[in-house]
Order: sequence, then C-alpha cells, then structure tokens
Amino acid sequence: IEAELTAGPLVGKRVLVTSGPTHEPIDPVRYIANRSSGAQGSALGQALVALGAEVVFVTGPADVPPPKGVQVVRVQTAREMQQAVQQALPVDAAVFAAAVADWRVATASDHKMKKTAGGLPVLELEENPDILAGVAQMGAGRPRLVIGFAAETENVTEYAAAKRRRKGCDWIVANDVSPETGIMGGSENAVVLVTEENAEPWPRMSKSEVGRRLAARIAETLGS
Ligand code: CTP
Ligand code: CA
Repeated sequence: IEAELTAGPLVGKRVLVTSGPTHEPIDPVRYIANRSSGAQGSALGQALVALGAEVVFVTGPADVPPPKGVQVVRVQTAREMQQAVQQALPVDAAVFAAAVADWRVATASDHKMKKTAGGLPVLELEENPDILAGVAQMGAGRPRLVIGFAAETENVTEYAAAKRRRKGCDWIVANDVSPETGIMGGSENAVVLVTEENAEPWPRMSKSEVGRRLAARIAETLGS
C-alpha cells in the first residue's frame, strides 16, 4: 500500500529527476555507456518524496533501483530520455542527475557486427541533444528551478560555473569524479553547489545526505 504524503514542504509540488547512465546502441548486443550507478539520483528522488513532492523519475539503466513512491519512467538512450522529460513537463523543479551519453553511434547496425578479415569497424558518432539545456532555455513553461549536475575530473568549480552559465540553469551540483575520490560507484559524495551568487562547497557526506540537503534547498527555494 502506497500512501501519499499529506504533509511536508513539497506537498503539491511536482519535481522531475533524471538519473543513471544512458545506453547508446552500437548493434543489437553492444552499446556505449558510462560508470554512473544512479545512486545520487535515487537518493535525491527518495528525499524529495519524503518531503511530500510528486516525483517523476526518468532513469536510464542504473545499478541502483529507483526510490519507492516515485513515478518511474525507464529509458535506454539520451533521445528516449529527452522525450520522457518533455512528456513529464510542466514541473515546479527539474533536476538532471543523469549521466547522459554525449554521443551516440550515427547509424547503429541492425545486426550483430562481425569481425572481418582485413579491417576494423569505424564508429561514426553524433552528438546527443542536451536535455538540461533544452529545459533551462525554455521560454514559457520553464520550471521555476532547473538544476544540473557536473561530474568533472579537474577545475571542478570553474568548469561548473561556466557550465551553469552556458546551459542557462539555476544551480549546478558539481563533483570531482576522478577515480581516486571513489565517488563514482561509491556511497559518498563531495559536491560544490554552484549558483548565480556563489559556489558553496559541502563537506564529504553520504549520497543520501547530499540528497536530503539538496531536497531541503529545493523546498526552501520553491516555498519562497
Ligand atoms: N546533460 C543533459 N543532456 C546531455 C548532456 C548532459 O541533460 N546530452 C546534463 C546532465 O544530466 C548534467 C549536466 O547536463 O546535469 C551536465 O552534464 P555534463 O556531462 O557535465 O556536461 P556536458 O555539457 O555534457 O559537458 P562535458 O563535455 O563536460 O561532458
Ligand atoms: Ca557530458
């Protein structure tokens, strides 16, 4: 039995969360992907539900299951994710925690590619649509709060601030995903919340706690 929350600062608010990686097919049995586990997206979704939000959770093929109490939309590719996001609108806030593949194979093979004597296959790539930028730059119907994530391996705050301006979103939650941090695939995260005003480094904490703090900030902002 699922009971709708009737109390909490996000009751009556609809929030979109994208989460997990995307898979871009090469042929029927192979794909391009990345190491996103979906853990931070799921933690955030759970925290938003706990504050009473109606959550649409658009997820690629993640390792971590979607949280209880959200409306789950499962997708594989970036283009499917973009369609699902468009169908979820309008929302009060949209958080793009997914690690969307930047490129897809221009022409995926409809049969399993075979090794051939004398020659390697060449994969021609095409850029995927920027789902976050599309929503952040909407005119009418733009969510009040549009939040992106930025996984970087160097110059985290500078790159994230530039990304925020370029994409036109309100906040960027930036983190350092260099292998030595153990963040990608781990249970902890160390983020910097980049807004128009400043860059706020948060101490290293569990992904659940990052989710709760971020959900609380969203509630505070939508309530003001
Ligand atoms: N994003 C998106 N659609 C894409 C690529 C990224 O919605 N095609 C979103 C991600 O969900 C994230 C934010 O944009 O919230 C930043 O993603 P990131 O990969 O850091 O940015 P890119 O613009 O792809 O730049 P980079 O070259 O650093 O990968
Ligand atoms: Ca990218």
